[in-house]
Amino acid sequence: MTRPDLNGIPVLGLGTFGRTGPEGLAAILEALEAGYRHIDTAQSYGTEANVGEAIRRSGLPRDEVFVTTKIADTHLDSPRALESVARSLETMGLDRIDLLLIHWPSQNDQVPFENYMTALAEAQDRGWARLIGVSNFTIRHLDRAEALLGPGRLATNQVEIHPYLQTPRLAAFAKAKGLPLTAYQPLAKGEVARDPTLSRIGKAHDVSAAAVALAFLMAQGHIVIPASSDPARLRGNLEALTVSLSEDELAQIRALDRGQRLINPDKAPDWDDR
Ligand SMILES: NC(=O)c1ccc[n+]([C@@H]2O[C@H](COP(=O)([O-])OP(=O)(O)OC[C@H]3O[C@@H](n4cnc5c(N)ncnc54)[C@H](OP(=O)(O)O)[C@@H]3O)[C@@H](O)[C@H]2O)c1
Repeated sequence: MTRPDLNGIPVLGLGTFGRTGPEGLAAILEALEAGYRHIDTAQSYGTEANVGEAIRRSGLPRDEVFVTTKIADTHLDSPRALESVARSLETMGLDRIDLLLIHWPSQNDQVPFENYMTALAEAQDRGWARLIGVSNFTIRHLDRAEALLGPGRLATNQVEIHPYLQTPRLAAFAKAKGLPLTAYQPLAKGEVARDPTLSRIGKAHDVSAAAVALAFLMAQGHIVIPASSDPARLRGNLEALTVSLSEDELAQIRALDRGQRLINPDKAPDWDDR
């Protein structure tokens, strides 16, 4: 299978939120066997150890698997940020992270922006992270990051995107900057599987509604990181890489946007697309 990437990031990866314990390890191993080569974890998920262990058990060369982790918002103040990255490497048993993200910007700048963004860049300079990026950043945060670190330093902004939340303002801004967005919760927690429009289009391409949702997001220029513990669904989601949607089908899916945000904790910033 060809493995397209954006900014060096494979366009389809595996989400690992909730994949803890032996079942989580089995799911990540199953995904690697199915052909996933990009795994998304975070300090706050409790899945970093499983990710490292699954890579070792898979027997795959380290270079063939792309690993993302995220600095938790409780570790943003330096030197805690860099210490937490060293701990992530140790927990995963890896000597480098492929993509290191700031998980959430500090609420109301409680930790100064310059403080944790400089630590992120320092982790890259030390060779602990090949690429760096951010998550849950708004246009305002992205502008500040560019002013601080210079253009082109960040590889992605990972944000909630699915057919019911297409974030047109942020997407247009990111496209103009050449910054790919990584769509988290791309299946709207599985809700897209019951969508009549996506199901009908899926039938025409002989794939699931979920695969159509993922194919749509990739056609919009996004990276996707769906999660599943089910062997058939893991493989079915990967089929999205083979689906080419027509202009008419893309238009039908664009029309499903209803601004439905599923993740909006108190610490969330003032989103560009509400
Ligand atoms: N940066 C952030 O702040 C942030 C926030 C949230 C998530 N994320 C990342 O994004 C990843 C994906 O998000 P998510 O796991 O919350 O949600 P998701 O990928 O949208 O949906 C996962 C859910 O959908 C089900 N599912 C998967 N494939 C399916 C299919 N083909 N048909 C029907 N149901 C299906 C799964 O159940 P089964 O296991 O039973 O298949 C699971 O319950 C996370 O794992 C995490 O890595 C990042």
